Amino acid sequence: MAILNNILGRFSKDIGIDLGTANTLVYTKNEGIVINEPSVVAINKRTGQILAIGNEARKMVGKTPTHIVVSRPLVDGVVSDFETTEQMLKYFIEKVHQEGFTIFPRPRVVIGIPSGVTEVEKKAVEDAAKNAGARQTFLVEEPMAAAIGARLPVQDAAGSMIVDIGGGTTEIAVISLGGIVTSKSLRIAGDEMNDNIIQYAREEFNILLGERTAEEIKISVGSACKLKEPLETSMRGRDLITGLPKEVKVTDEDVRKAISRSVYNIVDNVKMTIEETPPELVSDIMKKGIIIAGGGSLLRGLDKLVSEQTLMPVYLANDPLTCVVRGTGVILEDIDSLKEVLVTMGDEIIPK
Ligand SMILES: Nc1ncnc2c1ncn2[C@@H]1O[C@H](COP(=O)(O)OP(=O)(O)OP(=O)(O)O)[C@@H](O)[C@H]1O
Ligand SMILES: [Mg+2]
Repeated sequence: MAILNNILGRFSKDIGIDLGTANTLVYTKNEGIVINEPSVVAINKRTGQILAIGNEARKMVGKTPTHIVVSRPLVDGVVSDFETTEQMLKYFIEKVHQEGFTIFPRPRVVIGIPSGVTEVEKKAVEDAAKNAGARQTFLVEEPMAAAIGARLPVQDAAGSMIVDIGGGTTEIAVISLGGIVTSKSLRIAGDEMNDNIIQYAREEFNILLGERTAEEIKISVGSACKLKEPLETSMRGRDLITGLPKEVKVTDEDVRKAISRSVYNIVDNVKMTIEETPPELVSDIMKKGIIIAGGGSLLRGLDKLVSEQTLMPVYLANDPLTCVVRGTGVILEDIDSLKEVLVTMGDEIIPK
């Protein structure tokens, strides 16, 4: 079996996947990141047929006739719609294997999952990968993958702290000796901030905002701390009273107020995680700093706020949106020496 796996391994395109709530990224050994698309699927409700996946489906959000629904099969970082997730994984795996797929055997797949998911949820991801064509599936907790992607020395006898703020989940973890020592996984992240902005627009301005608009506002003027230069943008939506289009100006301060509850929730959980961490490791983190990653870490001033609140240095990871998938890539390159960081070994034998 081991020999067979070795031979298969040489020819198949083993892949690493960050199956995120907002974005799915796929890494292959030779080519690096080959797919980076939103985790969105458009389905015809009448026939059950999938019409589009990824970028194509994202374009349809909020613009579909009633019989077409555009949905995210993952909610809060967890598989909420098993069948659709499987279809989506299958689509991405096949997309990677398109060229001359017949000569490639089924791939081995490393997938990042949120920390603290249940056995049932793990099984759901494994089954989806298997049915989508994986020969062997390895699961790794997202904060571990993010830390590896950010090149933190996870296998050393020293504390490394990573905070990965995605769309659906924020993963906070302290890692030492290849394992997670303390961690928290919150279902508050970038998407919740978008919801906060939608709610704020309704309460303050009687405007109904779409989700994409809310996200655009967050990205263009959102912040966690007061900015040196104020920012302003226009907010366009439907007036809830007249039903007609309405546009108002919003500032960075408005948006900061709107999202502050989510931002502080994240920061408070970072503090609590530090409180639960053994003192030796805390002293390592004081020296090396906290690394923040994930799309949500790009919020202006978040590094500064976390630093002020925790009294620790805080650094933004390089290319924060791709840390998890790059981490799965590092694991793929060397599964043997990184075995200890994996959650499960799949149900097949790991090649020696
Ligand atoms: N410049 C930015 N400022 C603030 N937020 C941003 C920025 N760019 C992206 N985001 C947010 O980052 C989130 C997506 O991040 P990411 O791709 O890391 O999530 P994900 O991995 O798909 O989700 P999860 O890890 O929760 O499953 C979205 O909520 C998006 O609005
Ligand atoms: Mg993520």
